Amino acid sequence: MTYARITGSGSYLPEKILTNRELEGLLDTTEDWIYTRSGIRERHIAAENEFTCDLAEKAARAALERAGRTPAEVDLVVVATTTPDQVFPSTACLLQNRLGIQGCPAFDVQAVCAGFIYALDVVYRYIRTGGSKCALVVGAETFSRILNWEDRSTCVLFGDGAGAMIVEEATQPGILSSHLHADGSFKDLLCVPIGVSTAHQEMLAGKAYTEMQGKEVFRWAVTALGDAVIEVLEANGVDRGEIDWLVPHQANIRIIQAIARRLDLSMDNVVVTIDRHGNTSAASVPLAFDEAVRDGRIKPGQKIIFEAFGGGFTWGSMLIQT
Ligand code: UT7
Repeated sequence: MTYARITGSGSYLPEKILTNRELEGLLDTTEDWIYTRSGIRERHIAAENEFTCDLAEKAARAALERAGRTPAEVDLVVVATTTPDQVFPSTACLLQNRLGIQGCPAFDVQAVCAGFIYALDVVYRYIRTGGSKCALVVGAETFSRILNWEDRSTCVLFGDGAGAMIVEEATQPGILSSHLHADGSFKDLLCVPIGVSTAHQEMLAGKAYTEMQGKEVFRWAVTALGDAVIEVLEANGVDRGEIDWLVPHQANIRIIQAIARRLDLSMDNVVVTIDRHGNTSAASVPLAFDEAVRDGRIKPGQKIIFEAFGGGFTWGSMLIQT
């Protein structure tokens, strides 16, 4: 039996940090409101000439180095992003070119904040069925580009960044199972209401930005993610007490705390980056994972749950053994 294992991770955050205090000067908001309602203190914002593929490349090179692999050994490139550099080619093709490799499949996955879980699920299934031996999977976003910086209910919540993993075929299990869901009937609760096909009519109306009905999204996220973490435990016959770490999507500290409670897990066993990163959408799970691997919290042989929830709605959970 072929298994899929994460053999290296990397991440990158743009240099510029935007604090809540700075936002106080730009909007009708307070440092305290943002921190108490979301858990965010600051976020990173890409420089004007810095794009999603730039962030993705830095994270990808760090993951390759960690895995002891060269770009030439990569046989699949999957990038999760909502903020691609171009309409096409995909950011995965741009990244493949940056890495100086050709020939292997490269494509983007779009599931907004659940994008990395979706992309990792694809890679996991490729490897399990013999379609890849060494895959590069990246979550990268310049979400600041699709925010209305006059809308205090959304712009204070998001940030830019990238996280990457190398996933390889192995004889021991790494990714134990993966469970994805979507429900398009919630398409209007969290969205950018125009796209390439509709933009010609509406671009001028200033609709190219993220809109969210925060309270409703919050309620659904807590329910769907709570069910998703129980689903992944039950699918593997694993007890709550066997989980070493929760690496959650970082949308709101109160959502993260609610999911930790569903797992009877102390917050000491939850990787939290939202205070410093904000919500980096598809980049949040691999960024958090990489941080905890690098600072030694996540160790070999541990059981970890990944979960994420995003626009669509899309959501999912995975059980990983490091
Ligand atoms: O990653 C994808 C998934 N995303 C999520 O899961 C996000 C889910 N939603 C949330 O995290 C929360 O709902 C928010 C952080 C977005 C908002 O927190 P809330 O506790 O649900 O606040 P609210 O939307 O009910 O707003 C409360 C009040 C409102 O004023 P009124 O109507 O009560 O007078 C807002 O206008 O806070 C006001 N408000 C703000 N005040 C200061 C909204 N944004 C701000 C702000 N600063 N930035």
